[in-house]
Amino acid sequence: MPAGIPARQGTGARGPVAHVSIPANPVPTTASVSKSDMATTDDILSAQDAPENAPAQFVRWFRDVAPYVHDFRGKIFVIGFGGELVRDGALNALVQDLSLLSALGIRLILVHGSRPQVNEQLRLKGYATQFGRGTEPTSADALECAKEAAGEIRLDIEAAFSQGLPNTPMSHAQIRVISGNFVTARPVGIIDGVDYKHAGAVRKVDLEAIRNIISQGAIVLLSPLGFSPTGEAFNLAMEDLATSAAVALRAEKLIFLTQDRTVHNTDGTIDTELAREDAEALLASRTLDEDTASFLAHASLAVKRGVARAHLIPYTLDGSVLLEIFTHDGVGTMVVEDTLDDIRPATVDDVGAIVQLIEPLEEDGTLVPRGRSIIEREVEKFTVLEHDGVIYGCVALRPYLDEGMAEMACLIVHPEWQGTGEGEVLLRHTESQARAMGAKRLFVLTTRTSHWFLNRGFVQGGVSDLPHEKRAHYNRSRNSLVFIKRL
Ligand SMILES: CC(C)(COP(=O)(O)OP(=O)(O)OC[C@H]1O[C@@H](n2cnc3c(N)ncnc32)[C@H](O)[C@@H]1OP(=O)(O)O)[C@@H](O)C(=O)NCCC(=O)NCCS
Repeated sequence: MPAGIPARQGTGARGPVAHVSIPANPVPTTASVSKSDMATTDDILSAQDAPENAPAQFVRWFRDVAPYVHDFRGKIFVIGFGGELVRDGALNALVQDLSLLSALGIRLILVHGSRPQVNEQLRLKGYATQFGRGTEPTSADALECAKEAAGEIRLDIEAAFSQGLPNTPMSHAQIRVISGNFVTARPVGIIDGVDYKHAGAVRKVDLEAIRNIISQGAIVLLSPLGFSPTGEAFNLAMEDLATSAAVALRAEKLIFLTQDRTVHNTDGTIDTELAREDAEALLASRTLDEDTASFLAHASLAVKRGVARAHLIPYTLDGSVLLEIFTHDGVGTMVVEDTLDDIRPATVDDVGAIVQLIEPLEEDGTLVPRGRSIIEREVEKFTVLEHDGVIYGCVALRPYLDEGMAEMACLIVHPEWQGTGEGEVLLRHTESQARAMGAKRLFVLTTRTSHWFLNRGFVQGGVSDLPHEKRAHYNRSRNSLVFIKRL
């Protein structure tokens, strides 16, 4: 990679492979998916709907997820969930999926919350205090309730990981869950005259102890309590604890399992990928509900401090962790650090640089010859990648909105910069531009890059799938292949 160009963290949205279809699950107790806004919905079947060709689909699916499995082995995932997940009976299904991740060599740190359980205890004991989202003053009574709730939830989690009945996903799984005094806390103290008493903030995470445990294949469980060198316990917010642990461990992923707190586009579909800057702009707009805002703020902070990706996914969807990790578009919102400063709309001043990028590819037949005048005319349709005044990538987007489509054309990354995820960045940008325009499908014509598109969620179509106008100008002698992606 040329000097001065920052490396991006990995390629692909969730992992190295783009599109993975999910088969009818061979184990009858798991994933039954009916999420209408998933990109791969057509391919997703519940066990009851298993068609006769399920074995072939299963083999295809298993092979398709292999690259993710290789890529994630040995990586650290921090999974945070509130006490709501336990209250709503979603723990067992989650634990089954986490056991599978652990068996695949993913190092897991679980962080649980206990807010509804603490509130329930407070209510039963007749105390007026109730916890909401965020850090709040914690009275001595509330701390006692928090300790009791944490103890109970910890035991529930340990019990769930101890399942092992034959013919269940936990059969033969021997997962050890280890918890302990891994978190040093400090008191929040007095803010604006308010004494937060037993509310704490994370001061330090015992990285050595945690790394030792996960390197042996065990799972670390962190309860939302931390301890000070004076021997006191402090109540912590799950979101803070999970974020601090993920940052300290430089985790590959921080995953928040939420009731249904993902970020949505204006048309109601899930925004599957948000650049951190966009997440921060959204938070600043104050349009999100309190819970979503809190999760998104922590996800954004984690990514800013070096966690590769942070996800908000619904625990209300069975198998959501697996779907998020092993399918390209996932089922939640993923926050990534994109150095978007590099990417901008093209201006007339960029025509020369775009022509320079395109010419060699026109000469070798990869791209259709366009000529400078066409680029000049269409320059406002181009986006360019620029670093230190050098244009090293471009892409054009042409709308055909009457037919709900948009075309991605002239996707180019300068050969010196290829292979570092820049093509993926241009694709993601183009996809969100097309979505914002109202397009439902993005298509591309290509002669030599079909696998690149196939690996990124495109499926092969035919000339008849193209918008009318495009079909009329289709150059049969070039015989380009048509690839389409549902947005
Ligand atoms: C296609 C292109 C834009 C990808 O850009 P990039 O920045 O290299 O892409 P990424 O870094 O995101 O992806 C690199 C991966 O794609 C693979 N790849 C690159 N070109 C490919 C092709 N023609 N077919 C299949 N895979 C390809 C690389 O091997 C690499 O795989 P790896 O991650 O397993 O090592 C770039 O190769 C290019 O400019 N090609 C010439 C122009 C072109 O063909 N454009 C598309 C026609 S519209």
